[in-house]
Amino acid sequence: MDTYLYRFMFVRFLFLLSILFFVLLTASLSSLQPLCHDDERSALLQFKDSFILNKSASDNPFGYSKDVASWSLEGGNSDCCSWDGVECNEETGHVIGLELTSSFLYGSITSSNSLFRLRQLERLNLAHNNFNGSQIPFRVGDLLRLTYLNLSYSVFSGQIPSELSHLSKLSSIDLSGNYGLYTLSDLNNLVQNFTTLEDLLLTDINISSPVPKSLENLSSLTTLNLENCELHGEFPTRIFQLPNLRELRIGGNSNLTGHLPEFHSNSFLEVLELDYTSFYGKLPTSIGNLSSLHVLNFGGSRFSGSIPTRIFQLPNLRELRIGGNSNLTGHLPEFHSNSSLEVLVLYETSFYGKLPTSIGNLRFLRVLDFLDNHFSGSIPPSLSNLTQLTYLVMSKNTLTSHIPSSLFANLTQLTLLDLSYNNLSGTLEFDMFPKTKSLSVLLLSSNNFTWQTKANSNDTLPQLDTLRLDSCNLHKFPDFLRNQNKLSVLDLSSNNLQGPIPKWLYNTSIEALHFLILSDNLLIGFEQYQVVLPWPNLESLLLERNMLQGSLPIPQPSIKFYIVQRNLIREMSPLICNLSSLYELDLSYNNLSGKLHPCLGNFSSLFTLQLRRNNFHGTIPKTWAMGSSLKMIDLSENQFQGQLPRSLANCMMLEYLHVGNNQINDTFPFWLGTLSQLKVLIIRSNAFHGAIKIPEINYTFPELHIIDLSHNSISGNLPAEYFLHWIAMKVVGPHNSSYMVGEIHIDGWGDNVDYTVTLANKGRKLDYEKIQDELRVIDFSCNQFEGEIPELVGSLKGLHVLNLSNNALNGHIPSSLGNLAHIESMDLSQNKLLGEIPPQLTQLFFLASFNVSNNCLTGPIPHGSQFDTFQNNSFGGNPGLCGNPLSKKCGDFNYTQNPPSPFENNRSSESPFDFGWKVVVIGYGCGFVIGVVIGQTVIARKYDWFVRTFGKM
Ligand SMILES: *[C@@H]1O[C@H](CO)[C@@H](O)[C@H](O)[C@H]1NC(C)=O
Ligand SMILES: *[C@@H]1O[C@H](CO)[C@@H](O)[C@H](O)[C@H]1NC(C)=O
Ligand SMILES: *[C@@H]1O[C@H](CO)[C@@H](O)[C@H](O)[C@H]1NC(C)=O
Ligand SMILES: *[C@@H]1O[C@H](CO)[C@@H](O)[C@H](O)[C@H]1NC(C)=O
Ligand SMILES: *[C@@H]1O[C@H](CO)[C@@H](O)[C@H](O)[C@H]1NC(C)=O
Repeated sequence: MDTYLYRFMFVRFLFLLSILFFVLLTASLSSLQPLCHDDERSALLQFKDSFILNKSASDNPFGYSKDVASWSLEGGNSDCCSWDGVECNEETGHVIGLELTSSFLYGSITSSNSLFRLRQLERLNLAHNNFNGSQIPFRVGDLLRLTYLNLSYSVFSGQIPSELSHLSKLSSIDLSGNYGLYTLSDLNNLVQNFTTLEDLLLTDINISSPVPKSLENLSSLTTLNLENCELHGEFPTRIFQLPNLRELRIGGNSNLTGHLPEFHSNSFLEVLELDYTSFYGKLPTSIGNLSSLHVLNFGGSRFSGSIPTRIFQLPNLRELRIGGNSNLTGHLPEFHSNSSLEVLVLYETSFYGKLPTSIGNLRFLRVLDFLDNHFSGSIPPSLSNLTQLTYLVMSKNTLTSHIPSSLFANLTQLTLLDLSYNNLSGTLEFDMFPKTKSLSVLLLSSNNFTWQTKANSNDTLPQLDTLRLDSCNLHKFPDFLRNQNKLSVLDLSSNNLQGPIPKWLYNTSIEALHFLILSDNLLIGFEQYQVVLPWPNLESLLLERNMLQGSLPIPQPSIKFYIVQRNLIREMSPLICNLSSLYELDLSYNNLSGKLHPCLGNFSSLFTLQLRRNNFHGTIPKTWAMGSSLKMIDLSENQFQGQLPRSLANCMMLEYLHVGNNQINDTFPFWLGTLSQLKVLIIRSNAFHGAIKIPEINYTFPELHIIDLSHNSISGNLPAEYFLHWIAMKVVGPHNSSYMVGEIHIDGWGDNVDYTVTLANKGRKLDYEKIQDELRVIDFSCNQFEGEIPELVGSLKGLHVLNLSNNALNGHIPSSLGNLAHIESMDLSQNKLLGEIPPQLTQLFFLASFNVSNNCLTGPIPHGSQFDTFQNNSFGGNPGLCGNPLSKKCGDFNYTQNPPSPFENNRSSESPFDFGWKVVVIGYGCGFVIGVVIGQTVIARKYDWFVRTFGKM
C-alpha cells in the first residue's frame, strides 16, 4: 500500500511540476518574443503608403493576394510581424520576408523607398503588381541577405541595375515578364557572383547577347528560363547536362543556335523548351534517357534527320511539340497504354507511313496536330478511343479511305476537326456529326466525299463557328446550314453548286457571318434577289468565277473584301457608294455598263480597284481624293472617253495604273511622274497624242518598272530627259521569285493582289497573271515617235523588253544598246533606222527575240552568240543588209571585227534568271519572255489572309 501511495504521490508531483514548467516556459517565451522593430514597422507603413492599392494592378488570376490594406496601427495591432505577407525572424524580430505577390500595389518605386531600410530581408516577392514602368531601384543591391528575389510581371522597365550583381547569396531571381527591361551588357556581369543560384528566370527581357559560358558553372541551377530574350550566338551545350537542372526554357530566341548533347539517364530534366530557336542537327537517341521529362517542345526550330522513336515512349511525357521542323522525318512507333501523352504536335514535319492502330492507346490525348506531313493509309478506327481529344488536325497529308463513323460518335469533346487536303472519300451525311456538341471548327476541304442527305434528317449539327467545305464535291447547299446561327466563316467554294443561291441562306447566321466564300461554282444569282444583302458584319464576300447575272448584290457597309471577278453582272446600284470600308473591290470580267459612280474615287480605305474588261463608258470619275490608299487601279478594257483626270495624281500610294484599251483622248500624263511609288503605267490602245513634254523637275517616275504607251498617236522625240530619272530601270534587282503584288496589310488583315500585264511578243499577246518583281519593260510601239533613238536608252540596264517598233524613228541604232545586258526582247522594226547594226549587240547574251526588220539598215549582220540564232524575219525589209541569215552575201568587205566577247566573265551567276546562256542559244526563241514572266496559268487565288487567319489554329 505504501509503495502504491508513494508512487501515486510521485506521479502527481511530476504532473504538477510539468504544468508549472510549462507555464513558466510559455511565460518566458512570450516575454522573449519581441514585437517588430519600430523602424521596420514605420518602413513598412511608408512602403504601403507609397502605393495606391488598385485591383487592376494585379491581373494574375492565380495570385494569392495579401491584404496590405490591413497593415495599420489601428486596432492595436502594432506587431508588424503578424501583418499579412510579412515574415520576421523569430529570434531577432527583424523582417526577413515580404511575400506580396498580386497584392494590388500600383505606383512608382525608387531607391528612396522605405523598403530598402529592411536590411535583413532574405526573401522579397513583389511579383504581379504594377510599378508603373519604374526602373528596378539600384538599392535592391543593398539587400545583401536576399536569397529570393521575385519582381516578375510587375511593369518594371529600363536597364537592370548592375548593383543586383552584389546579391551573392541569391538562389532564386525572377525578373520575367517586364517587357521594357533590358540588360546593358551581357548576362555574365549580372550572374557572375550568383554561385549558388538555383532559379534564373528572365523571360521577356531584352538581353540581346549570347548566353555566357559561365552559366555552365552554376552547378546548383535547377531552373533556367530565358524565353524571348533576343539571345543570339551558340548556346553553351554543357548547360543541358547540369546535374540539378529540371527546367530549361529558352524558346522564342530565333537567332540562338546550338545543338543537343547526349543525355544521361541520371538527368532530372522535366521541362525542355527550345521552340522557335535556330537549334539544329540531329536529335540524340539518348533523349530517350530523360525519364523525368514532362514537356518537350522544340517546335519551329531547325532540327533534322530522323526522330528517335524512344521520344514517343518516354514514360512521363505529357507534351511533345516538335512541329515546324520540316527536315525532321520519321514514322510513328507503336504506342503503349501506359503513355501519359496529352499533347502531340507534329505539324509541318516530314513524318510518313501509316497511323498505327495503337494510337488508340493514347487515352489521355487532348491535342493531336499532324498538319502537313506525309501520312498515308486510312484513319484507324481506334482513334475514336481518344475520347479526351479536343483538337484533331490531320490536314495536308495523303490519307485515304473513309472517315470512321465512330469518330464522330465518340469524340464528344472535339472543338476543332480538320481533315482537309487529303484523299479521303466515302459517303458522308451531315447527321453523322451530331454527338460532337462542342464542335466549333469543321474543316473538310479538298477531299473526294460523296454527300448523302436523308429525306427527313433533323439536321442537328452543332452550332459551328467555322465551316470549310470547299472542293468537297457538293452539289447543293447543305440543308443543315438553315439552322446554323453562329457561323463566322462559311466556305463552299470550288464545288458544283448550281443555279440560284437559296433564299434561306439569307437567314443563316445573320449576325455572326464574317466570311462568305462561294467562288468557283456555277451559281447564277440569289433565288430571291434583293439589292442589299443581309449579314451586317460580313467582311469578306468572294463570289468570283460563277455565272452571276443581273444586278450586283450589295453587301452591308461592313464589307472589306468584295470580289466578283468573272461573272455576268450587268449593272451596279449607286448603293455601292455606301461601302466605304472596302479594301478590295474586284468587279473585273463582267458585263457592267453605263457610267462609273464617281464615289469610287473617294473611298479612303480602298487599296485596289479592279474593273477590267467591262463595258463602262463616259469619262473616268473626276475626283480622286487626297489621302487615298489606292495602290492599284485597273480600268482597262472598257470604253472610257475624255481625259485622264488630273486628280489621279492625288493617289500618292499608287503602284499600278492600267487604263489601256479604252478611248481616252489626252496627252501623255507626265503629271503622274510625281507618284514616287508608281511601278506600272499602262495606257496602251487609247487616243493619247501629241509630243511628250519635257518634264519639270519633280515629274520623274522614279520607280517605274513597266511603261506601255503602245498603240496611241504620241509624236515627237523619244523622251530622253525621262530616261535620266528612271532609277528603277537602271538597276538589276537580285533574282528571286517574288512577284509584284498590291499588298493590303491593315488591322490584322492581309491580302496580296497580283499585278497583271499583257505583253506583246512577236506579234502575240500574252496575258500574265503575275509579274516577276524585277521585270523591266518599255513599250512605245505603234505611235508616231520620230527622231533618233537616244544614247541614254543604253543606261536603262535593268531592261528586259524594249519595243520601239512601228514609229518613225530615224538615225543610227546607238551602240549603247549593247549595254542592256539583261535584255531578252528588242523590237526596233518598222522605223526608218539607218546605218549598220552595232556589233556591240552581240554581247547581249539573253537576247532571245530581236527584230530590226523594215528599216533602212545597211552593211553586214553581226554574228556570234545570240545573233546566230535569229532568223530571216528579224532582218527582212532592209535592202542594204547582208550576210547570214539573209541570202544576200556581203561581198569583199571584211566585217569580222566583232568586239572582244565579255562572255567568259559574264556568264557566271550574275545571270538574273535561273537559266544559263546555253539554254538561250539552244533556242527557246519565240516567246522566251516566259522565262521572265511566269504566268498565264490562271492559278486559283489563294486567300492568303484566310490561310493566315484560320490555317494555323
Ligand atoms: C485603378 O487602375 C485602373 C487601370 O489602371 C484605373 O482605370 C483606375 O482609375 C484606378 N483606380 C484608382 C482608384 O486609382
Ligand atoms: C504612372 O506613370 C505615368 C506616366 O509616367 C504618370 O503620369 C502617372 O502619374 C503614374 N502613376 C502613378 C500612380 O505613379
Ligand atoms: C478501344 O476501345 C475498345 C473498347 O473501349 C477496346 O476494346 C479496344 O481495344 C481499344 N483499342 C485500342 C487500340 O485502344
Ligand atoms: C472520287 O471518288 C469517285 C467515287 O466515289 C471516283 O470515281 C473518283 O475517281 C474519285 N476522284 C478522285 C480525284 O480521286
Ligand atoms: C481628241 O480631242 C481633240 C480635241 O478635243 C479632238 O480634236 C480630236 O479629234 C480627238 N481625237 C479623237 C481620236 O477622238
